[in-house]
Amino acid sequence: MIECKNIAKIYKSGEIETRALHNVSFKINDGEFVAVMGPSGSGKSTLMHILGCLDTPTSGEYFLDHKDVSQLSDDELADIRMRKIGFVFQAYNLLPRATVLRNVTLPLVYAGVSGGERECRAKEALRGAAFPENFWNHYSNQLSGGMMQRVAIARAFVNNPTLILADEPTGNLDTKTGEVVLDTFQQLHVEQGRTIVLITHEPYVAEHAERIIHIRDGNIVEDGSVKHRRVVHAE
Ligand SMILES: Nc1ncnc2c1ncn2[C@@H]1O[C@H](COP(=O)(O)OP(=O)(O)O)[C@@H](O)[C@H]1O
Ligand SMILES: [Mg+2]
Repeated sequence: MIECKNIAKIYKSGEIETRALHNVSFKINDGEFVAVMGPSGSGKSTLMHILGCLDTPTSGEYFLDHKDVSQLSDDELADIRMRKIGFVFQAYNLLPRATVLRNVTLPLVYAGVSGGERECRAKEALRGAAFPENFWNHYSNQLSGGMMQRVAIARAFVNNPTLILADEPTGNLDTKTGEVVLDTFQQLHVEQGRTIVLITHEPYVAEHAERIIHIRDGNIVEDGSVKHRRVVHAE
C-alpha cells in the first residue's frame, strides 16, 4: 500500500542546500506496524512529512494505495491527507480550550460527516483509545500528557484512515505513560489492523513495532522484523 522509490529531499534556503534524504526506497504492506528509527537529524521527520503528504520529495516516487502522490498540488495533497492519513505528534497538537469530544469530532467536520454520526464515531474512537468516559467533556488543557496523547490517537483514528503516522508520540512522556500510549497503538493495531508508522529515535520505543526501518544521514541502513517484540499487554 505504501511504496517509496528513490526518494530524495533537498531543502534549499538561499545558497545553502541540505540533503535530508538521499535515495530512499521501501514498501510497507497494508496492516503493518513499522517503526522508523534513527538519531536526531537523520531525516525521520522529513520522511514523515512526505509519507503524510505534508510535503513532496525533490525526486523519486511515492505510491499511496497504488497512486503516485509525489508530484500533486497542495490542494490535492490536502484532500489525500483528510481522507487517508491520521497524524499523531510529539506535542499532541490539540485545541486547548475545546473539549475532548470536540477535538476528536473536528476532523469529521472537515470531512463533511453529519452531527449525529460525528459524535457516535468520536465516542467509538475514544473507547478504542481506552480514554476514560468521565473525561470526555473536559477541556483538553485540563488533561495529563498521557491522556492528551490518547485523545490525539483517537483523533487520528476517527476518520478511518488507511495510514497512521506518529512522530515521536512518546517524546514528551515518562516511560510508564509512554508505555500506555504504545499499548494503545498495539491494541488498535491488533483490533483494527491498520497500517501504523511510528517514528522514534529510541530503540526501546521502536521495539514495540513489528518491523524497524533504520535511517541514518538520509539513508536506510537496515530494515527487518523485530525479533523480541515488546508487548505491553500480553493477551
Ligand atoms: N525545513 C528545513 N529546511 C532546511 N533544513 C531542514 C528542514 N527540515 C529539516 N532540515 C534538515 O534536514 C535534516 C533532517 O532533518 P529531520 O528530517 O528533521 O530529521 P529528524 O526528524 O530525524 O531529526 C537535518 O539536517 C535538518 O537540519
Ligand atoms: Mg524529527
